[in-house]
Amino acid sequence: MEETRFSRRMQGVKGNAIRELLSVSQQPGMISFAGGLPSSETFDVEVIAEIAKEVVLADGKKILQYGSTEGYEPLREELIKYLNSQQDIKATEDNLLVISGAQQGIDLAAKAMLDPGDVVLVESPSYLAALQIFKTYEAELHVVSSDKNGIIVNELEKLIKEKKPKIVYSVPTFQNPSSVTIPLERRKKICKLLEKYDVLLIEDNPYGELRYSGEDVPHIFSLDKSNQTLYLGSFSKIISPGLRVGYAVGPVNLINKMRIGKQGTDVQTSTIAQAIVCEYFKRDLLNPHIEDVKKQYKEKRDYFLLKMEEHFPDKARWNYPEGGLFVWVVLPEEYDTQDLFKVAISEKVAFVPGASFFVNEQKNCLRLNFSNASFEQMDQGIERLGKALCEMLDC
Ligand SMILES: Cc1ncc(COP(=O)(O)O)c(C=O)c1O
Repeated sequence: MEETRFSRRMQGVKGNAIRELLSVSQQPGMISFAGGLPSSETFDVEVIAEIAKEVVLADGKKILQYGSTEGYEPLREELIKYLNSQQDIKATEDNLLVISGAQQGIDLAAKAMLDPGDVVLVESPSYLAALQIFKTYEAELHVVSSDKNGIIVNELEKLIKEKKPKIVYSVPTFQNPSSVTIPLERRKKICKLLEKYDVLLIEDNPYGELRYSGEDVPHIFSLDKSNQTLYLGSFSKIISPGLRVGYAVGPVNLINKMRIGKQGTDVQTSTIAQAIVCEYFKRDLLNPHIEDVKKQYKEKRDYFLLKMEEHFPDKARWNYPEGGLFVWVVLPEEYDTQDLFKVAISEKVAFVPGASFFVNEQKNCLRLNFSNASFEQMDQGIERLGKALCEMLDC
């Protein structure tokens, strides 16, 4: 079909670079630190199989039927209990929507809020797929500079005043890709700006439960007394991404619009998947499972960082991720990690070049995922990547 026949909306929206990279990283012998995948070793295969059988046999007539768009009632009840008692998120019957992963929450919020040309402020770097979604809704993206503590608040205020955004999008805890967490004081200042200027912030938090060291920081949602935050949570990284179950909590009228938008998108999130998550809560499996996942990932993070110290040249710099799935590496400005990618692929190791996480395509960064590789793959892969880096950085 000729390009001109496609919608204006989709013109210029590129495919997700990571999804495209995944095909390279599946070549035989390739060690991949590219995907953002949880480790499949953490999936409770036997337990989920047993739960799935049990819920279908016990309640099949109901859960195999169409269900309500707002979500499977027993899961909503469990979620309200969990969010209020353990996450300090005031979820109610009215401000909660079950969604098909946090990703759908970004899409539905954009569908509800954005007209072509509306401004969205994003972090720098930012979650690639969110950039893709906002572009699909023909938003004008502007970047708020970030430092090692995330969004720089003065800059945020300046841009809010200047650009009058409809949405500020942030992953404030263990950000993808930088792993940065915005500290408490900065979160409080951000809340003041939301109140002062009446701006909606999307707090996208799929990694928040995965902390391996350091202290928890309250959610922006919980600190924001002006009800200007849409909170997105997900079971993808703590049970399984294949279930596609997440949730949105936010201003009631926005949740309502998102619910209406969801009717057109997918009618409802799979009831069987919701019933499985619900049973996880009912059997008190979620908290012990999260502890188990954290233990596995902490070991992986520590080993990954140890190997990086051993093999990476001094000119490469990286952060210490207190949680989440990623290490973000910064090279001196003159280097392009797309060039490094070509060398690395020939050495049979893959990562994500950083440019796609930046609106301005900054080129000297790369994202490494530490949750999915085995220890043996880390041994070999990081050594190979260290070699490619040394070749490029002349050391
Ligand atoms: C920041 C961020 N938001 C959303 C998602 C999508 O998560 P889900 O599987 O819940 O849709 C991801 C997945 O990697 C992510 O990193």
